[in-house]
Amino acid sequence: MSALCRVEDIPDKSGRGITASIDGVATAILVVRLGRTVRAYVNRCPHLELNLDWQPDHFFDFERKHILCGMHGALFRVGDGVCIYGPCLGRALTRVAIDVVDGEVRLA
Ligand code: FES
Repeated sequence: MSALCRVEDIPDKSGRGITASIDGVATAILVVRLGRTVRAYVNRCPHLELNLDWQPDHFFDFERKHILCGMHGALFRVGDGVCIYGPCLGRALTRVAIDVVDGEVRLA
C-alpha cells in the first residue's frame, strides 16, 4: 500500500490535492476529511471532466459541508461523492479506495 498523507495533514472540513500512481498512471486525486470521514476521489468533475479545485487544495463549499466544483458550482456529498446540486446532478465522483492505518492514508 502506498501512503498518500497523514489524516492530521488534512484539517477537518477540508481537502488536499495529491498526485497518486493508480494502476501505474499518475492521477490527480483529492483526499477530503469531514469529521471522522476520510475519502479520496479522482480530481475530475463528471460535468466537463475538469479539476474540481478553483485554487490548490480548495475543495469545499463555503459552508464546508460538501465538495465543491469551482467551475460551475456542483456540490458533492463527502461520503459517497454523489452530486446533489449542479449540472451533473445524480452523477458521482470516481472513488479511490483508501485505508487509514495508524493515522496514515494509504491507497488500498
Ligand atoms: S465542470 Fe464541474 S460543475 Fe461544471
